Amino acid sequence: MRVLGIETSCDETAASVVTETGEVLSDVVRSQVEIHAPYGGVVPEIAARDHARALPHVIEEALSRAGLTLDDIDGLAVTHRPGLRGPLLVGVQMAKGMAWARGVPVVGVDHLVGHLLAVFLRREGAPDAPAFPFIGLLVSGGHTAIYRVDGARTEDIRELGATRDDAAGEAFDKVAKLLGLGYPGGPRVDALAAQGDAARAASAVPKAGPRRASFELSFSGIKSSIARHVEKHGIPTGQALADLCAAFQKAVVDALVDRTMRAAEAEDVSRVVTGGGVAANRGLRAALADACARRNVELFVPPLASCTDNAAMIAYAGALRLVRGERDGFDLSPATKTSLATVTRKGGGKRR
Ligand code: KG4
Ligand code: ZN
Repeated sequence: MRVLGIETSCDETAASVVTETGEVLSDVVRSQVEIHAPYGGVVPEIAARDHARALPHVIEEALSRAGLTLDDIDGLAVTHRPGLRGPLLVGVQMAKGMAWARGVPVVGVDHLVGHLLAVFLRREGAPDAPAFPFIGLLVSGGHTAIYRVDGARTEDIRELGATRDDAAGEAFDKVAKLLGLGYPGGPRVDALAAQGDAARAASAVPKAGPRRASFELSFSGIKSSIARHVEKHGIPTGQALADLCAAFQKAVVDALVDRTMRAAEAEDVSRVVTGGGVAANRGLRAALADACARRNVELFVPPLASCTDNAAMIAYAGALRLVRGERDGFDLSPATKTSLATVTRKGGGKRR
């Protein structure tokens, strides 16, 4: 089965053709990052307009790189949640229109399910496919959560803990902005951190909360303390800047690795899979590899093209739904929230 996947949930316009075995026949991703850079973050209305302009071309390119035409496609898969409503609507309407014109089925895919199953995409650099169950650590600019994944269906995936406030990538981007490093700042902070010594700036960065025995995360405290540090002392330069980046990155990485390993232990699961753009972070990769090796846990890190936003993961997750005989109707519409069961209360306030 050849499935055309479409992804427009945030600031990447993407289309891809994938088979139900995860073979990637084409994978086209067009980033809007430069369009949003002057604003320091994604502007939903601008994103939606740009998706509408770019998507037909991105789809044509995906078909042509696969050496196929629309007639060769057996079904459509589209991200319909979670994400920005306007941008999602562009992809959903396109997928429904194409399915109607061709008389093939269409299914909506939860973007987070796509990320968690991206490890199964067969492409260069992909690790062996993990067996179920595994602990999924999803760390991107929009989402940060830890899941127990028992299978490929939505009901097989359970959130164990998520961030209460900023996503990990969002924290990287906001701190990079505070330090004058531009947008998106994650890769810049990563590069500077590699030259810094976290211990030398440790006093400026507290541990990531919350401090209790759950799998929840919180990054807003770290971000505020860096903001206060910059207010008091100005933006550091040279070695001091690298040290501050290293201390910030270490605080984020320590929290992610701590929650992930505790989750694996509590659930008695010996496999960990990463996903999302922050999985590119060298500090996180090294710390996870080290922690997993010490505890005899198998670590699966997909190649970067499978971690960052892409339509191949959507096509694959959709192909699995189609193979199971699932179909969505033409009333398929976008939703801003995930369909996965969640346990984390967002925002501040007192907790039980
Ligand atoms: O998954 P992704 O491509 O897009 C979504 O947010 O869905 O992730 C992008 C995020 C951005 O916040 C970016 O700053 C962060 O991932 N990122 C990194 C690194 N590369 C990308 N954060 C830390 N270290 C990196 N090397
Ligand atoms: Zn994503």
